Amino acid sequence: MKKADTIWMNGKLIPWDEANVHVLTHTLHYGNGVFEGTRAYKTDKGLAIFRLRDHTKRLLNSAKITMIKSPYTLEELENAQIELLQKNSFESNVYIRPLIYLGYGIMGLYHVKAPVEVAIAAWEWGSYLGDDGLENGIRVKISSFARNSVKSTMGKAKAVANYLNSQMAKFEALESGYEEALLLDDEGFIAEGSGECFFIVRDGKIITPPNDNSLESITQATVIELAQKLGYTVEHRRITRDEVYIADEAFFTGTAAEVTPVREVDARIIGEGKRGPVTEHLQKEYFDVVYGRNKDFEHYLTYI
Ligand SMILES: Cc1ncc(COP(=O)(O)O)c(C=O)c1O
Repeated sequence: MKKADTIWMNGKLIPWDEANVHVLTHTLHYGNGVFEGTRAYKTDKGLAIFRLRDHTKRLLNSAKITMIKSPYTLEELENAQIELLQKNSFESNVYIRPLIYLGYGIMGLYHVKAPVEVAIAAWEWGSYLGDDGLENGIRVKISSFARNSVKSTMGKAKAVANYLNSQMAKFEALESGYEEALLLDDEGFIAEGSGECFFIVRDGKIITPPNDNSLESITQATVIELAQKLGYTVEHRRITRDEVYIADEAFFTGTAAEVTPVREVDARIIGEGKRGPVTEHLQKEYFDVVYGRNKDFEHYLTYI
């Protein structure tokens, strides 16, 4: 990880190496914390955060769901992220990681009296699934782990605890020689990747699962909006694993993953085994949006 100069912690910019916590930090022990992953791109007009308001809203919604009272408002959190990017000098695209967590002070599962802390870090980060993956597609394995069930976890929250499952699925996929995991829901329908939403293309139609078993993804929403504007038919419906195997194209979307083609799932070649034409079209258009080259989507950019 490439260090930046400072990290925003509870209202102050702290030198990167001094942004530390106590070992009895509540979230470290019991896993109640919420976070975001947001990207800022180097546009022709300078660094711009993509969909800052939507990410910050989701952060506060996650806190509400998990019964954490944010000490900062939406505007304060947005300004903190802007200030952090202004005060650090970044030469390339940036990933922003706000985290609301429970600090040091009490132990035990009744968390309500724990102090609430906020940290926001940002660092230069390239493509999550690799530049080769963006161009040529990745190999994916359907995970033996089901996506966290809505009967026992709250998937609308981007909650720290939800990511144990994602980590195990990712680990399993990588150890098995694949690049990403695709998780089914507890009824066996496609849910999402370990940190991305999933799409297939069949007969020119773009299909993605509903969000009852996936994060309400900001990139997925952007890609759907973009696809509809470009005249594609988009279906938000359940997908079975065998439908994935016979899809013409497949791809992941996410803030980190951007638009990453999938060329193989469980040893079945998807389409031609490379980035398909619809995926390539949407990927190009997505990059135009985040780099400020599409006037219709400029309102999603916050210039630093
Ligand atoms: C489990 C999961 N699903 C989907 C996504 C994609 O969400 P977004 O597009 O808002 O980054 C993410 C990433 O945040 C994720 O962690």
